[in-house]
Amino acid sequence: MIYYRYLDLDYKPCAEKLREYIWEYRQDILAQKTVVSFKHTDRNHVMSKVPELKPMNLTVRFLAFFVGYWQESRIHIDPDMAFARINFPIINCENSVTKFFTTEDPLIRGMTTAGLSTIDPARCQYVDEYSLTQAVVFRPKEPHQVISHNPQKPRISCTVGFFEDIEYLFT
Ligand SMILES: [Fe+2]
Repeated sequence: MIYYRYLDLDYKPCAEKLREYIWEYRQDILAQKTVVSFKHTDRNHVMSKVPELKPMNLTVRFLAFFVGYWQESRIHIDPDMAFARINFPIINCENSVTKFFTTEDPLIRGMTTAGLSTIDPARCQYVDEYSLTQAVVFRPKEPHQVISHNPQKPRISCTVGFFEDIEYLFT
């Protein structure tokens, strides 16, 4: 299985504007008391401020900032229904990796880092990883784990889901 693909997108202007957006609306975004790292946003508002976010004429269905304060997430699958999403690096994503695993155990929707039914790492096999150094399409429904080697620095990425099937981006 292909777990991710780097995308040939000029993501830097977009990432810069998203950084400015997060700073401007930091009270709403960073102060959200969520138990997981996802910070939900009003996608229409973000897109009105960052129109560059409309990559490849796709229609954004879901947009969130992922703010990780810790060095290692648990192995999990994402609760969002998308089988593929695009991630953009925003802040402190260098020196971090997203690892993918396979497991014999059944995967249940909602197996998140905060849920009770997390994936048993002892029954997982490492298969692949990417570093979020540019825009990437990846499979959030496969067991994965984010590891940041930037201690003391929150790692912020932007994750975007679409109405369209973007499976073709893996080829
Ligand atoms: Fe995840």
